[in-house]
Amino acid sequence: MKPTISDVETLARGAGKILRECRGQNLHIRQKGVIDLVTEADHRSEDYILAEIRQHFPAGRIITEESGELAGSQDQVWYIDPLDGTLNYAHGLPIYAVSIAYEEDGRLQLGVVYDPERDECFSAERGRGAWLNGARLEGPPAQELDHSLLITGFPYDIRTNPENNLDHYAAFALRSYGVRRLGSAAIDLCYVAAGRVDGYWELRINSWDVAAGGLIAEEAGAVVTNVTGNPNYLTPPYSILAASRTLHAQMLDVLG
Ligand code: IPD
Ligand code: CA
Ligand code: CA
Repeated sequence: MKPTISDVETLARGAGKILRECRGQNLHIRQKGVIDLVTEADHRSEDYILAEIRQHFPAGRIITEESGELAGSQDQVWYIDPLDGTLNYAHGLPIYAVSIAYEEDGRLQLGVVYDPERDECFSAERGRGAWLNGARLEGPPAQELDHSLLITGFPYDIRTNPENNLDHYAAFALRSYGVRRLGSAAIDLCYVAAGRVDGYWELRINSWDVAAGGLIAEEAGAVVTNVTGNPNYLTPPYSILAASRTLHAQMLDVLG
């Protein structure tokens, strides 16, 4: 059986409700890395999503942040981030989301990013468009770099890896209106889709961070590639660049 977009929305909303309910409770925060945290809420959200998928759509392979890769058919693949923005969440900063994407025969087909704090459900279906709570998204307006508002993120090994994005950050900060850092890649991509920002780039990201948001931004009309311009942004080494066509080309020049 194949999922529909409303099945995936129901899943994401269910997981989002769990995240809302857990906020403020004892989260049993644990460090996965120097900066990388995981909480009880990440696990509860993931357990819920996995149980639902196994019950209703048992065939597919699942790539999910906390449990890794779970075997299944290569033709149907799920990409799940049960809580994107854990560092924010663990600090009580209400910018985080659930991100779920579904791929068939090697192509993303469905993507949902749900922000439970604002009750914003971003969704997309390949070839049919992208929506925010049912209203169609039109993507970012064509914008020149000089007049653009951008978003980025930094990798968890920023303290030790010289490829830490600080050079690109400085370059874009000097060329744009400003560069924001919200702390949720899934939300960053949806904000490009909604035209709330003009462009987003990030290096060394994971497939579950960008699968759903990438499809949502693409279906809204943005150009989505990795930072070298390759449209296969779900193949390693993962990185992401999303913007209107004009801005995308200008950002590629800076990143090159
Ligand atoms: C992180 C967020 C952040 C991005 C990191 C991601 P997590 O996901 O999306 O914005 O900069 O690269 O790992 O760990 O909160 O799920
Ligand atoms: Ca993530
Ligand atoms: Ca996560």
